Amino acid sequence: MSHEERNRRNFPPMNANTGAATMPDVDAQGASHIQASDMVMQSVSLRVNGTVRQLEVDTRATLLDSLREQLSLFGTKKGCDHGQCGACTIHVNGRRVNACLTLAVMHDGDEITTIEGLASHDALHPVQEAFVEHDAFQCGYCTPGQIMSAAALLKEPCGPEDDDIRECMSGNICRCGAYPNIVAAVKSLRNRA
Ligand code: FES
Ligand code: FES
Repeated sequence: MSHEERNRRNFPPMNANTGAATMPDVDAQGASHIQASDMVMQSVSLRVNGTVRQLEVDTRATLLDSLREQLSLFGTKKGCDHGQCGACTIHVNGRRVNACLTLAVMHDGDEITTIEGLASHDALHPVQEAFVEHDAFQCGYCTPGQIMSAAALLKEPCGPEDDDIRECMSGNICRCGAYPNIVAAVKSLRNRA
């Protein structure tokens, strides 16, 4: 494998039990190889956006990678892959979760909602409407995660002030700095409730 071919997905894999990096074999040219024997596959049944999906997953695969790469649900974004940006926020059994921080194999039988499943039929979810109405995005990369967090926040104990919204949304980073409009969007929904 050339240096150019190396990317975040193959360097290096994590041990599912310890969280430690599993260092692959390195050959004389410095190329790394993941041993076939390192891969342990397991069946999981996830209810994703209302549909039961049976998957064979690598036990080291994150829920984020399984959603994106096995189910082609690309609305859930990979930003940091380390639980620091919130771009991968989804709902698991109604609660917001960073999909990059949890393994798919841990979610057998769970109810998963991604941004693709938030709207009902042709009608946008109220949070999606509020984001449009308040122009709460620029490039849009963080937006699915922001919207999933905001939708969960509305059901969580979160104080009444703007600062409370900021605190409750603090796990979602927006590199475009659309924060004032995001707060305005969330506030409009709280005022409506
Ligand atoms: Fe999951 Fe950044 S990609 S928190
Ligand atoms: Fe660009 Fe948030 S809209 S990162």
